[in-house]
Amino acid sequence: MIQTCLFPAAGYGTRFLPATKALPKEMLPILTKPLIHYGVEEALEAGMTNMAFVTGRGKRALEDYFDISYELEHQISGTSKEGLLKDIRELMDACKFSFTRQTKMLGLGNAIHTGQNLVSNEPFGVILADDLCINENGDGIMKQMMKVFEKYRCSVVAVMEVNGDEISNYGVISGRNIEDDVLIVNNMVEKPAKEDAPSNLAIIGRYILTPDIFNILSQTEPGKNGEIQITDALMKQASDGIVLAYKFKGRRFDCGSLAGFVEATNYFYGLENAKK
Ligand code: G1P
Repeated sequence: MIQTCLFPAAGYGTRFLPATKALPKEMLPILTKPLIHYGVEEALEAGMTNMAFVTGRGKRALEDYFDISYELEHQISGTSKEGLLKDIRELMDACKFSFTRQTKMLGLGNAIHTGQNLVSNEPFGVILADDLCINENGDGIMKQMMKVFEKYRCSVVAVMEVNGDEISNYGVISGRNIEDDVLIVNNMVEKPAKEDAPSNLAIIGRYILTPDIFNILSQTEPGKNGEIQITDALMKQASDGIVLAYKFKGRRFDCGSLAGFVEATNYFYGLENAKK
């Protein structure tokens, strides 16, 4: 069973300035819960209880969020508002949280490598909290990936079909199907031009990685945009062994973009209203 989920959360969130000037983008709320809360819930549902965050300067609110706020709790204790903290308290009781900092913005590969000291020499999950995923009809996306991992015991990336020019915003894979929704990756390119994309299957921010990825990352040269790319490290892992791509069931909202953020807000608001 995989214990640890790593949350790279050092990025600036420039697309949400000025809101992200003083607020980590992972703390932007969809309704009343910040994005990071949904990510931790998804990891916990998959059975992970060690939540490891790679943060950076100006991200202290993430640590405070997963800590007790004595003054606030004292104030609302015994009032009708107490129930509003129920969800976060449940997460805090069920999980352990650890934090480290990425000091230079050298890319997602570097962020994951920075998290090595929080991950023991075991496979681990990675969740990019601004990709908000939900499956109303069954297991969450990380739990689905866990089942694939348990069967094949190798790194797994979540993919979805993306149309047109959009593909250039993603790591893109191509591969050979071994099940309807599982492929063995044979090519992987970070943010290719549309005409160079090996397929229309885009990687979204969910990974299960085997720990040999750290050694590969230590030897990975900067790639696209001069950053160390997890996509390049995974391509190396795929050519030396096996990496799987999994077409997940459910929905993914790109909450790193304004349109995706608004879409997620409306979708979750609809779900809340339907419950009433
Ligand atoms: C990162 C990865 C990319 C992946 C994407 C998913 O890019 O580098 O391969 O497709 O996350 O959201 P970013 O969106 O951080 O630029």
